[in-house]
Amino acid sequence: MQKPLNKSMRPVKMLDLHAQYLRFKDEIDAAIAGVLARTDFIGGQDVRTFEQELAAYHGASFAISCANGTDALQIALMAMELPPGSEVITPGFSYAAIAEMCLLIGLKPVYCDVDPETYLMNTSEVEALITPNTRVIAPVHLFGQTAPMEAIMEIARKHNLLVLEDNAQAIGSEYTFSSGKTLKAGNIGHISTTSFFPSKNLGCYGDGGAIITSDETLARRCKMIANHGQSVKYIHEIIGMNSRLDTLQAAVLRVKLPKLNGFIQERQTAAAFYDKALSGIAGLHLPKRTQNSTHVFHQYCITLESAAMREGLQEALKQHEIPSMIYYPVPLYKQKAYHQDIHLPVSEDLSQRIMALPMGTDMDEEQLNFIVTTIKQYFNN
Ligand SMILES: Cc1ncc(COP(=O)(O)O)c(C=O)c1O
Repeated sequence: MQKPLNKSMRPVKMLDLHAQYLRFKDEIDAAIAGVLARTDFIGGQDVRTFEQELAAYHGASFAISCANGTDALQIALMAMELPPGSEVITPGFSYAAIAEMCLLIGLKPVYCDVDPETYLMNTSEVEALITPNTRVIAPVHLFGQTAPMEAIMEIARKHNLLVLEDNAQAIGSEYTFSSGKTLKAGNIGHISTTSFFPSKNLGCYGDGGAIITSDETLARRCKMIANHGQSVKYIHEIIGMNSRLDTLQAAVLRVKLPKLNGFIQERQTAAAFYDKALSGIAGLHLPKRTQNSTHVFHQYCITLESAAMREGLQEALKQHEIPSMIYYPVPLYKQKAYHQDIHLPVSEDLSQRIMALPMGTDMDEEQLNFIVTTIKQYFNN
């Protein structure tokens, strides 16, 4: 039996936001104090500057900030002015927001299956799902890797569809096309969305989100929609909503954006540690890297041989106060709210066997060693 939690070891969390805050406390506190001093809480100078910095980071023309990543999806979809009932092809194994927002505004999510090893959209199935009502392909860059965008963009061009990238989990990931051209995730399709939920790779200290595009018409419409459909105060041209990134969050994000690539490197170092320590364990499969994309490891998700093995491992980790999570336990089309009578074998299988290990910045070797030793012990390795 492994020793109980070493008293001197920092407790293992899924993600240690507090440790990261302490590292940059002076800068973050000063940024927050600046907003308090200016009291420009709504639409303040940090919001506009952050939007410019975020667009530049992606190499895109426009970034429009908003209240969260779910609103960002709604705004992007509304900006497309799609006929009611238009179909949006998106993975069945994913976070709920895209399906939810489609249904909220009268669009139909059409679910495709995912690759069993990368967990990303299986593009070989997309064309068969296209109907005269299809308008959008919405890949999700799940867990930190860019979906196979070359194939997705080719299908979209061929069928005259828009591509909306849900980039809540892969900000900073880079995708290289067969031509050798490299683009940032979120700057490949016609429009993309991201989330600054605190646990995201670029997280703020509350809720936040953004839309990124280089299409001027879409950008203009998104900006209006996020602001009650107005570009001139009290003149409402289209139906919009109230979705704002508040200035305090923008100030925090301005401190963190220049550090994002460093955060990603820290996550990649932790992932490499897991890869090395956990390779060759029968019944445990490591997350596969795609050839075309860097992996920014929003999550480090392994798959186990069976649901029972997953349950056993989670329990063993829990006994050592090591958290783990299941992303996602139920495919979207099996959720009561978004139910469709379809069967996607990989999505269903993954939901039974996938499991995320602790992942983030500020993980030290002692913690990582403790986690992998506990896992190996469970497998008698
Ligand atoms: C893939 C994906 N899309 C959208 C969202 C929604 O973002 P938010 O929580 O900021 O609304 C999330 C957040 O968890 C996500 O992981």
